[in-house]
Parts: sequence; C-alpha cells; structure tokens
Amino acid sequence: MSTTEQPNKKRVYKPKGMPFRRLGPSGLRVPVFSLGGCEFFETFSVCQREIIKTAFDNGINMIDTAEVYANGKSELEIGRVIKELNIERSDLVITTKVFYGYKHGGSPNDQGLSRKHIIEGTKACLERLQMDYVDVIFAHRPDNTVPMEEIVRAFNYVIEKGWAYYWATSEWSAREIEEAHHVAARFGLIGPIAEQCEHNMFHRERPEKEYDPLYKKYGLGTTVWSALAGGLLTGKYNDGIPEGSRYATHSFLKKSAKALHETPEGKEKINKVRALTKLAKDELDTTPAALALAWIARNPNTSTVILGATSPQQVLDNLKALEVIPKLTPEILDKIDRILGNKPKPVYPEGRPKLDRFAKL
Ligand SMILES: NC(=O)c1ccc[n+]([C@@H]2O[C@H](COP(=O)([O-])OP(=O)(O)OC[C@H]3O[C@@H](n4cnc5c(N)ncnc54)[C@H](OP(=O)(O)O)[C@@H]3O)[C@@H](O)[C@H]2O)c1
Repeated sequence: MSTTEQPNKKRVYKPKGMPFRRLGPSGLRVPVFSLGGCEFFETFSVCQREIIKTAFDNGINMIDTAEVYANGKSELEIGRVIKELNIERSDLVITTKVFYGYKHGGSPNDQGLSRKHIIEGTKACLERLQMDYVDVIFAHRPDNTVPMEEIVRAFNYVIEKGWAYYWATSEWSAREIEEAHHVAARFGLIGPIAEQCEHNMFHRERPEKEYDPLYKKYGLGTTVWSALAGGLLTGKYNDGIPEGSRYATHSFLKKSAKALHETPEGKEKINKVRALTKLAKDELDTTPAALALAWIARNPNTSTVILGATSPQQVLDNLKALEVIPKLTPEILDKIDRILGNKPKPVYPEGRPKLDRFAKL
C-alpha cells in the first residue's frame, strides 16, 4: 500500500465508460470486461492487489475465481484484497466455481457436483472469500455421475440459502445445459443463466454453433475465458517464446510452446496471428490483443469477457479493446474471418430443414 493512501477510506466504484450487459436472461448487470482470478496461480506472486485495484479503478467491478485456483489461494487472496481496498460488497460482482475441489488427493466427496460437494464447496468458497454470498456460483464442469435433478436442486438450495444469487455452468455441452433447463422447468426450479466457455479466434465451434439454439431459446449469456488463447493472440509469441510469459513459465504449457513454432498446426496459427497483427496495426491502429478482445466482446451472446492479466499494465492495455469494438465493421469482420478460415457453418444454412418427401410443402 502506498503511503499516501488512507487505509480505511471506502473505495468508490466509478464505471469510467465501461459498458454493462445483462448476464444472460437475468437482471444482473455485468461489465463487458471482467477480471479473472486464475492468473493468481503458478505465478501467484507479485501484484494481485495492484491488478485488482487497477481493474476496479478503471471500471471493472466483476471478478471471477474458483475453488480450484491455486488450491483455494485465489479466493483467499481476492477476499483479502477486497477487504484491504475497502470496496463496498454491493459494488462488486463476484463469481466462483465448484467442481474440482480445492485440494489434491482429497476424499471422493471433495469434488464433483453431488449435493454434498455443491453445498459444502460453496460454503468453503465463501469462507475463503470472507463473504456472505457470491453473485454467481458456477458448476466448473458437468458431472455425469450425478443425476441432473440432484445438481439443479442443490444449486437452488444454495440460492435459497442466500449463498449465491444465480447459478451457471462452465464447459457443459448444449445437451447438458438443455437437460438442466428441462429439469428446472419440470420442478419449478431456477435454471442456469450463463455458460463460462472458452471462446477465441481459434476456438469457435461450441460457443458460436453448438450453443446457438440456447441463446435463442433461453437467452443464455457467456462469460468468456481464454479470449486471448492464453496470450497467443497478443502476438507476443510471433517470433519465439518470450521469457516470463505463460508459455515459458507454466510447466504444463511448455510442450505446447514448443509445438507452436515446430509443428505445421502451430506454424499455421502463428501465421494467422501475424496477419491479424498487421490488420490491427494497419487498419485499426491498435494491438492484436485489443482486436482479439474486442472481437469477442462484440458478439451479442457474450455477456462479459474475463480478462486474464499478470500485471496491472496488461489490464490497462487490454481495456483499449473498448475503443476497438465500434471499429469492427462488417468489412473488418469479414477480413478477420478470411484470415482465420474457421467460421462455423450455421446449424441450418438454408433455414430449418425442408419437410420430408411425404409431406406437402
Ligand atoms: N471456466 C473455466 O474452465 C476457465 C478456464 C480458464 C480460465 N478461466 C477464467 O478466465 C480467466 C482468463 O482466462 P485466460 O487466462 O485463459 O485468458 P487469456 O486472456 O486467454 O490469457 C491471459 C494471459 O495472456 C497474457 N496476457 C494478457 N494480456 C496481455 C497483454 N496485454 N500483453 C501480453 N500478454 C498478455 C497473460 O499471461 P502471461 O503474462 O503469463 O504471458 C495472461 O495471463 C481466468 O483468470 C479465469 O478466471 C476459466
């Protein structure tokens, strides 16, 4: 804490031009860019406080975390910093996720989506966060070993208890999300309002095609992760693996880092990022990172893009995406699609299928 700061002064939220959207069909307003707590793991170190402070002071009042991030330490740290910064709880939108548990090698009931783990896991998240409630509790993954009715009822219990205001899913298939809605409708329960999915220029099929009917039917919204493909879309890997970057430091990414510059698939990706870097600079006077983030944010089904940042400067750099959103004209979007060459085909390219040959049209 700098010596000029007064420790007990309430930190007041100012939107600073941040646009807000409803989270799916709910009334909850979320900022178009939110902050992720996953970065507080291997590199769990330096500046979580400064990252959160910078984000909050620049209009980001939503933070996403999970029980599993840094084995619970991400939640502990976020809770501690929010207390220290003296931010009004109602000014914040806090989301966390249960499924993986917070310790390796725990008992079989320390993970998954049983009623037991959903309830005990949520209570433990709140304890670590030092909060009475989270705004949204996510099922971090589907659990097909547990009946869907048990899962939906357990999340509804968590909501009734006031421990979370809404529940949502992460990386569930469209079929699983649909099943949760059917169960909720059948028993008069609350269904999931959002899906936390991977969505970026290299990963489009599920968010843009598989979920398409759910956006229309349930007003599903997405809270997007990996919008920069782990940093790849910033262009920082165009000429090698820079020291200190995620691909250089994270043990489980070292193999992928090597593949980026050595395999045909990796080289193809890098070439596409190079072309996007050029387009960003020449036609939009911006960075490839801001372009990639704006591209996700402009998607009408995106409720919020969760920014991953390992420094306060990355937060500031990434917020430049706000200026790029209005510049994404149909012509620019078309150029991006041509560089990527992976635009998902619509589910029914010519509208719904025609009636079969026995029916009269
Ligand atoms: N639900 C899920 O299953 C799930 C899964 C993963 C993440 N998430 C959530 O989504 C959040 C973001 O995900 P993500 O980390 O995969 O996002 P990402 O945006 O694809 O990658 C973020 C990483 O890119 C690098 N970076 C970011 N901005 C940069 C900039 N301006 N210049 C250069 N490098 C930059 C940083 O890594 P380095 O500085 O280390 O290179 C940063 O950690 C997480 O914190 C978490 O809350 C959810």
